[in-house]
Parts: sequence; C-alpha cells; structure tokens
Amino acid sequence: MKTDFQLLKTLKSRFYMQSIQTKMKLLIFSGVLIFSVTHLYGENSDEIFKKNCSSCHTIGGGRLVGSDLKGITSKRTEEWLLKWTKSSQTLIKSGDAEAKRISDEFGGLIMPDQLLSDNDIKSIFAYIASKGDNPSSASVTSAVSNTSDNATESDIQKGKFIFEGIQRLSNHGPACISCHNINYKGVLEGGLLAKDLTDVFSRMGGDAGLRGILGAPPFPAMTESYKYHPITDEEIGYIIAFLNKVDKDKENQKVSSFNPLLYGGGGGVVGLLIIYWLLWFGRKKYTVKKEIFNRQLESI
Ligand code: HEC
Ligand code: HEC
Repeated sequence: MKTDFQLLKTLKSRFYMQSIQTKMKLLIFSGVLIFSVTHLYGENSDEIFKKNCSSCHTIGGGRLVGSDLKGITSKRTEEWLLKWTKSSQTLIKSGDAEAKRISDEFGGLIMPDQLLSDNDIKSIFAYIASKGDNPSSASVTSAVSNTSDNATESDIQKGKFIFEGIQRLSNHGPACISCHNINYKGVLEGGLLAKDLTDVFSRMGGDAGLRGILGAPPFPAMTESYKYHPITDEEIGYIIAFLNKVDKDKENQKVSSFNPLLYGGGGGVVGLLIIYWLLWFGRKKYTVKKEIFNRQLESI
C-alpha cells in the first residue's frame, strides 16, 4: 500500500512539473483511455443483442423467426438459457424435452449456435429481463403486411438475376446459387452447401425475418462471405421479392431435374472411359508374347 501511495505521489509531482501542453496531452490521453475502457464494458447487452439476436428475435415485438423473448428469463433457468444459446441442437440431442418441444413448435427451424462468452450471454438475458418479465402478447410480427407481396415483375426478375449471379451484387458478394438451391422454372440447380430456399420466405418470417437475416447473416459461412461485401438494402428488397414469388409458386412448379452441367460432366466422363477402353485393347497384354510362349510349350 505504502509503495502504491508513494508511486502516486511521484506521479503527481511529475505531473505538476510538466508544461501546460504536456498536461493537456496527458489529460486527454487518460480521458480517452478511461472512455474506451468504460465503452468496452458499456457496449454489452443491447449492442450484443442487436448484433447477434435481433435478426430473429424481438423483445416484446412479437414472434419473428424465433420466439418473442420478452419474459423468457422468468420461464427458464439461466443454465438452460446458456446451453440453448450456445448450441440449441446439442441441447435437443441431449434429450431435453423442453428444447425438443420448442424446436417442434417452430417446425424444426434451427437456431444457429452463438459463439459468445458466458458473460455476454448472461448480459443479453439481463438486458431482456430488464424489459419486464411478463411474456408479451404482441401478435406475430410476420403476419404484418409483407411489402414484397406488391413487388413488380421487374423487381422479381432483378431478384432472380441476383440470386443466380447473372446480375453481380454491387459490393461483389458471391451469388446465392453458389451455396443454395431453389426450385423455380428456368433456374439451374444450385449449391448443396446450404439449405434449399424454395419455401424460406414463409419459413423464416417473410419480409421482416429475411430482411434481418440478409442484413446481418447469422450463419458463419454467410457472415464471412458478406462481411466485406454487404448486400445493399435495395438488393435485399429484390431478393426477398423473388423468394416470396418462388415460395408462392412452389406448388405449380414442375421443375425438370435435367441439369445440363451434371449431364454434360457425366457425358464427358463416359466419353473418356470409352476412349481409355479402346486404347486398352491396343496395348500389350502379357509379360511375354503369347504366340512365342505357346510355340515353346508345344515344342517341349
Ligand atoms: C437465425 C435466427 C436466430 C438467431 C440469430 C437467434 N435465434 Fe434464438 N431462436 C431461433 C429460432 C428459430 C428459435 C425457435 C426454436 C427453434 O426452432 O430452434 C429460437 C429460440 C430461442 C430461444 C428459446 C425460446 C423459448 O421459447 O424458450 C432462446 C432463449 C433464444 N432463441 C435466444 C437467442 C439469443 C439470446 C440469440 C442471440 C445471441 C438468438 N436466440 C439468436 C432463431 C434464432
Ligand atoms: C458461401 C455460401 C453461402 C452463400 C453465398 C449464401 N448463403 Fe445463405 N446460408 C449459407 C449457410 C451455410 C446457411 C446456414 C443454414 C444452412 O446450412 O442451410 C445459410 C442460410 C441462409 C438462410 C436461412 C435458411 C434456413 O432455412 O435456415 C437464408 C434465408 C439464406 N441463407 C439466404 C441467402 C441468400 C438470399 C443468399 C444470396 C444473397 C445467400 N444466402 C448466400 C451459406 C451461403
């Protein structure tokens, strides 16, 4: 203690010895230091919630993609909430009946694992608790009118081109089709890396849900792809208009499963095999010439 005090004293006298400019600089520097430290701690809760959860959850605004989280802390234990938020699928697989019931209620929609520290998660739920603990009676947000219901043919077409990558995204993000498939006439089969998006519009909360997801994709593969190449609001509007249309039309789509890429590639492989097979016949088959060998045998 004593040495601390002495250190403080020397610092203080050092400070008085400085010129007025240096004093100002020191004050500003320590101000910035204190501000940034408090800011780090102050960022927490609502910022973390906005960044990680608000694309799918509201607090008192009704169901979006996932449940309205108002009052959730009075319904479930902290331990359960921590486990669920880190990995809902692990909790479901562990046989937790409540987790299973919630997942079923949402038709098996998967909440992506949240890579957050225990402290961050706890502070999110403290923030949610601060909004009151009686569960919300707000109506389903996704029932609120979807503006994409009134999209023009041209908006839908633009969305289709963006999805397919015929129209490049203005910030050069990858085309959706490189990872996702949809069933829609005239659209080639898409990637298999991620989920089929044919009915994603109704599955993920219409305009509100999709806008949240595409504005700040919560899935690691997508977050990485669009972090430095964000999709603009206008482009998101076109894509949603297209996904809405695809969802509405899904019943009367008789999509042929003919995929020119697949069949072209397959044809090429078969062609090559035939060529190899023909060449095979021309080659010398045995380690010795057969006729000579047989003649030798006969002469014995
Ligand atoms: C991509 C969408 C998405 C994101 C992002 C998301 N969730 Fe979820 N969440 C869901 C869905 C969907 C459900 C409903 C259950 C299911 O289908 O898995 C759910 C369910 C929950 C539940 C259980 C609700 C209940 O009724 O018990 C909690 C708690 C929860 N989420 C917390 C969070 C928190 C906290 C975050 C942010 C750190 C977050 N979620 C981010 C989609 C999401
Ligand atoms: C690099 C690959 C990649 C690209 C490109 C990509 N996504 Fe995704 N997307 C994913 C992954 C991975 C998921 C996580 C869920 C899964 O496995 O399907 C996902 C999930 C989604 C979901 C939620 C699906 C659900 O049912 O849970 C939507 C909606 C979506 N993407 C839309 C798009 C749109 C629109 C584009 C184009 C602007 C796009 N994605 C581009 C990889 C990608």
